[in-house]
Amino acid sequence: MSEKEILEVSEAEIAVHWQEEEYFHPSTRFIAQANMTDAGIFDRLSLDNFPECFKEFADLLSWYKYWDKTLDTSDAPCWKWFVGGKINASFNCIDRHLAKYKNKAALIFVPEPEDEQHVVLTYQELYVRVNEFAALLRDFAGLKAGDRVTIHMPMVPELPITMLACARLGVIHSVVFGGFSGKACGERAADSGSRVIIYMDAYYRNGKLLDHKQNADIACKVAKEEGQSIDKVLIWRRYPGNDSSDTPMVEGRDFFVDEVLKDYSGKRVAPVQLPAEAPLFLMYTSGTTGKPKGCQHSIGGYLAYAAWTSKYIQDIHPEDVYWCMADIGWITGHSYIVYGPLSLAATTVMYEGVPTFPDPGRPWRIAEKLDVNIFHTAPTAIRMLRKVGPDEPPKYDYHFKHMTTVGEPIEPEVWRWYHKVVGKGEAVIVDTYWQTETGGFLCSTMPALHPMKPGSAGPAVPGIHPVIYDEDGNEIEAGAGKAGNICIRNPWPGAFQTIWGDRDRYVSTYYEKYCKNKDSKNWRDWPYFTGDAAVHAEDGYYRILGRIDDVINVAGHRLGTKELESCCLTVEEVAEASVVPVADEIKGRVPDIYVSLKPGYKQSKEIEDKVVMSIEKTIGKIARPKHVYIVPDMPKTRSGKIMRRVLAAISNRTDVGDVTTLANPEVVEEIRQMVQGD
Ligand code: PRX
Repeated sequence: MSEKEILEVSEAEIAVHWQEEEYFHPSTRFIAQANMTDAGIFDRLSLDNFPECFKEFADLLSWYKYWDKTLDTSDAPCWKWFVGGKINASFNCIDRHLAKYKNKAALIFVPEPEDEQHVVLTYQELYVRVNEFAALLRDFAGLKAGDRVTIHMPMVPELPITMLACARLGVIHSVVFGGFSGKACGERAADSGSRVIIYMDAYYRNGKLLDHKQNADIACKVAKEEGQSIDKVLIWRRYPGNDSSDTPMVEGRDFFVDEVLKDYSGKRVAPVQLPAEAPLFLMYTSGTTGKPKGCQHSIGGYLAYAAWTSKYIQDIHPEDVYWCMADIGWITGHSYIVYGPLSLAATTVMYEGVPTFPDPGRPWRIAEKLDVNIFHTAPTAIRMLRKVGPDEPPKYDYHFKHMTTVGEPIEPEVWRWYHKVVGKGEAVIVDTYWQTETGGFLCSTMPALHPMKPGSAGPAVPGIHPVIYDEDGNEIEAGAGKAGNICIRNPWPGAFQTIWGDRDRYVSTYYEKYCKNKDSKNWRDWPYFTGDAAVHAEDGYYRILGRIDDVINVAGHRLGTKELESCCLTVEEVAEASVVPVADEIKGRVPDIYVSLKPGYKQSKEIEDKVVMSIEKTIGKIARPKHVYIVPDMPKTRSGKIMRRVLAAISNRTDVGDVTTLANPEVVEEIRQMVQGD
């Protein structure tokens, strides 16, 4: 996609410039072993059979009690699935597999240092560890069903153990990405009303053992400032019995888990039988404005959806070795490292560190050693591995039957490298389109039923019925060659239930735009607004163009423009800030920051550094800008709105278009010269 097209995404009804790509077909070998080869699935999950058709999803799970009502719409648009059903997610991911698979690997943890052996946890071992920790959470931390807990941990086995222990009790977990700052953790802890937070003392990243525990103090302080006191900080240790962090413990608040756990050795906790529609977890995600939104996911609907899509789109069988190289701190990790694969008794691999450490052959060595046969990653990682180690994969003897790309659009060129070099021409690829809010995939090819088309996510997942609307709510037909706002006509079990503590924002952000009647209890009146622009090709495949709003997708992670901008404004000298996405070869997009200063201040390197530091401290290193430009003034409309689009064009060296109607057109050329240097 050219930069021009990317920038035009912010306007509805975009013309479409790219050419159609050739199809690639799955091998007969793949098809012969696939979980889903029945094309009748689309009819079974048609709108005529809605909502009862989703029983097929829920039947992949073990229920204490079946539901009475498949879909309850009485509180529209807060949909409730499988109402009356009783279930436990921890039981479904562990206990029910023991009879057949207790000695099978559930989790394989690969530490970043290559001289540290990988760790295998069988289903029986996972069972024991989850039970012991659940006992600690209940009896030491005093947690019970419905309480919230914030977890700020890196990629270590103790993270899924913690999540599953919470799920066993019905405690709602909120995992904050390990790379985020202590402040981000504290704000999320406060928003969710967590009085317990769970940390890891340290973890490896790029060869260094980082002190993570220091973030806990900041998190507690920030939470307190926002009115939430943290009673207990439970700290797992990377090396139990040894301190890997220099940050002192706070007496009476901080506890090393390995020490407290001694009292819970061998303890068992019966899984709590919970209502299907009770919350399983919160996952915070950035929006355009305001604070991050705590997306609330249910137990029954979410787990049914994660299990079904894992089985039929990821094609996971219990005997597969599945590796999703994402972080559990994002929704991908929740659905497709933890809940989906474990609900199917698969072996799920988790890797602690950086994919290119100590060299770009690392992922392929891991795949060879563990005999991984399903691989799942994001375009940003693919681009990076292609850049730094384009010839590495053939050096290793691994064979993937299936690969996934997720999180952002993938360029057809990059897709072809992934297919030919990483997949050795043998693997099928699914390009899965979805969101934190949707719990699981919305669009993807069914790997044994559809050919692949580079750069296109594919048709909708069975049971999902998208529609593309223009700004006025007219449907744009498939093959019209126009992009529009992709929405989903119908509710589905994986969809989030609400924004924690902010139902109004949930309704206004996701359901208001194309709602046909605000008083209606009929789901047909409430299409789900994804906020993405997409094109529907004649063959039924969707090509996703990106966010309609101003969120910047960096390396597959969504960052709110407004969040970044408000963070710049915490620097004393800064008067105005505008953040725009700039194309980056590796990460897809990164933020470029434009700031103007308060009167009396002069442009200096020191101020630029302060801006970068404020971003790193408040949001995390992931949001580090490519450049900070201190400009004399922002290009503005006459009503005073900053024209981000003009700045984005300058950053991306594309045409700024007609700027004569701006309040200060002369500043555009001044900024352009400053940035582009000619
Ligand atoms: O813009 C879409 C893009 O990522 C957004 C969702 O981001 P997040 O909630 O962080 O979830 C990421 C993991 C699902 C979407 O609104 N996106 C996601 N998958 C794709 C995509 N864009 C194009 N193609 C995809 N396969």
